[in-house]
Amino acid sequence: MTAVPAEQPDPQVVVVAGGTGLVGSAVVRRLVADGARVVVPTRGADSHAPDGARVVRGVDWEHPETLLDVLTEPGWAPTGAVAALGGWWLGDQLVDVAPDVWRRILESHLTAHWLAVRAIAPVLVGPDPAYVLLNGAAATEPMPGSGPVNVTGAAQRMMVRVLREEPVGARVRFHEVSVLAAVGGDERNLDPGSEVDRADVAAAVVRTLADPASPAVVEVS
Ligand SMILES: NC(=O)c1ccc[n+]([C@@H]2O[C@H](COP(=O)([O-])OP(=O)(O)OC[C@H]3O[C@@H](n4cnc5c(N)ncnc54)[C@H](OP(=O)(O)O)[C@@H]3O)[C@@H](O)[C@H]2O)c1
Repeated sequence: MTAVPAEQPDPQVVVVAGGTGLVGSAVVRRLVADGARVVVPTRGADSHAPDGARVVRGVDWEHPETLLDVLTEPGWAPTGAVAALGGWWLGDQLVDVAPDVWRRILESHLTAHWLAVRAIAPVLVGPDPAYVLLNGAAATEPMPGSGPVNVTGAAQRMMVRVLREEPVGARVRFHEVSVLAAVGGDERNLDPGSEVDRADVAAAVVRTLADPASPAVVEVS
């Protein structure tokens, strides 16, 4: 009897927005190691992501055609997405934050998440499309000197809740992975009370993408 070769399943295609950053690059490394095709959109013209990822440079998130052109190529339709956008900030107390700093943090930590989900969620395909946003303890715990990040973190959490309730949420699974400790290797955390390895954060993100039973908020500490 001749053995019929088993049909290879299509590889998973995951877009990692912020895949050039501290947490996002760890997520990219883990997905590549697991055999996924990984697309990393970045605003920079010469930004880098871990080996094995397909980097799409010069992305304008308000007009993301260069990214969407890649995602419509045969074999590159995305089945999942991760948004690791924003990062950490420590500075003045809220009443002393300069307006341009406030606006810049709202842009990088909140508007960037909205623009990314607006670009990517509608084009996710497959039987169980999933979208994971990274967030942190600042979403719930007031942190003096990091007020703008508290405000954007709380708003980001509400954004996920709204997405889950709107029509897009009936088709796409939205989750937040909430990192409750400082991520090891981030020099912006001057005095971290506790630290988590970014490989562990990446593992939690990948588990959340894969598991339809994941809760809305997955905590990592
Ligand atoms: N770092 C920590 O200790 C820590 C702790 C808890 C939770 N987290 C969470 O992890 C996530 C990622 O944090 P991170 O520390 O890895 O971030 P990061 O390294 O500072 O930056 C992540 C990426 O955000 C993108 N970005 C920045 N400003 C943007 C803007 N205005 N518009 C669009 N994209 C912008 C950049 O991508 P391009 O320049 O390539 O476009 C950058 O590579 C955040 O959601 C954060 O809440 C981090």
